[in-house]
Amino acid sequence: MKVVMAITGLIMVGFLLMHMYGNLKVFLGADAFNHYAHWLKGDILYPLVPSGWFIWIFRLVMLASIVAHIWSAAVLTGRAHAARSTKYVTTKRLSQTYAARTMRWGGVILLVGLIFHLLQFTTQTVQTGFTAGAEPYEMTVGAFGNWWLVLLYAVWVGIVCSHVRHGVWSALTTLGANTSPAARSFLNGLAWVIAVVLFVGFMIMPLAVLFGWVN
Ligand code: HEM
Repeated sequence: MKVVMAITGLIMVGFLLMHMYGNLKVFLGADAFNHYAHWLKGDILYPLVPSGWFIWIFRLVMLASIVAHIWSAAVLTGRAHAARSTKYVTTKRLSQTYAARTMRWGGVILLVGLIFHLLQFTTQTVQTGFTAGAEPYEMTVGAFGNWWLVLLYAVWVGIVCSHVRHGVWSALTTLGANTSPAARSFLNGLAWVIAVVLFVGFMIMPLAVLFGWVN
């Protein structure tokens, strides 16, 4: 179960890094950003797979990863609770980090944020500063002109990055990389670098829109 969590988690971190990098295309202008967004849903990997197939393969892999990740988290949580019939006498936290302590509830909030994100930008059901049918550039710039949305995203992306910080460390430990004190510091550093790069990389675009550097 831990290995399933580790592998599906790392697949999703890979997606996040690519998504963050892709979002930065907004700085190249409307044409570049829209072209990139349409390419993702059209000719990516063509002619290896027919045009338009990649996005659905990607969505299937994502959905399978999310379901397997949550399912193993739920089973492991159930087992952990079943293993103790009484509560711990002391509630004092010893060495757990904040990110480690908030993995379960943080994961739930992350998922709620993701559902909002998809309703907003993928299905355009929740329209914040744009109208249905807006092109990706127009939609993104319209949305992040709202300071409250930028704030909401900062909190959500912060929760995602905290989850990733502990998750990367935990996944690599599960997969056997935590073999010495030096390896331990390396994994810790790597997890921090990935989390910080993701936070800065994701937030730079909404902030640039809010402050009018991208319009
Ligand atoms: C500031 C941060 C973010 C911005 C500005 C952003 C922006 C976008 C945009 C514009 C789309 C729609 C692309 C299109 O349909 O043309 C999208 C889709 C998506 N985003 Fe984000 N995103 C952010 C963070 C995240 C995070 C943290 C996650 C995951 C935890 C995420 C997961 C997704 C997924 C799964 C899709 C759907 C891809 C599909 O159509 O299947 N995004 N995002």
